[in-house]
Amino acid sequence: MALRDVLAYPDPRLREKARPVTVFDEALKTLARDLAETMYAEPGIGLAATQIGVAQRVITIDVREEQGQPGELLKLVNPGIIESEGEIVGEEGCLSVPGIREDVKRAEKVKVRAQDLDGRELFFDAEGMLAVVFQHEIDHLDGMLFIDRLSPLKRSSIKKRLRREAEQAANNG
Ligand code: NI
Repeated sequence: MALRDVLAYPDPRLREKARPVTVFDEALKTLARDLAETMYAEPGIGLAATQIGVAQRVITIDVREEQGQPGELLKLVNPGIIESEGEIVGEEGCLSVPGIREDVKRAEKVKVRAQDLDGRELFFDAEGMLAVVFQHEIDHLDGMLFIDRLSPLKRSSIKKRLRREAEQAANNG
């Protein structure tokens, strides 16, 4: 097991579209374990393999940890939204976009199809925070960040600010 570095905007690898997983082997289990460990260490409630520079469709989610309840860890492969319903607006942040939290419009309920680490098919009917995290993490697998879903004006001001901060960090060594 190993902690991995989480990529930060504007790293171009965050824009890659992740490939579907076709081989369900030990390497996949190691990737999922590292992803979960990194997610808990940050801490975060969801993490996509894209965020650690691995362009494969693997995500981990544990939304209960943050609510002070016993965690329920989901390690999912090839997740996709097959139905969505309603609309909610809620504040989101992202480990790859540090320091930014903004209201994002999402579907209120989603039905997700995924596979477990052995390739077995799984279905989830999610609403509330879990539904939002599913949408957020699946966006990562498609190279999309939550700031891409904001209004153009808000998005460009945030991107300017993030670029400035990245330059300053680089200049400060
Ligand atoms: Ni994120």
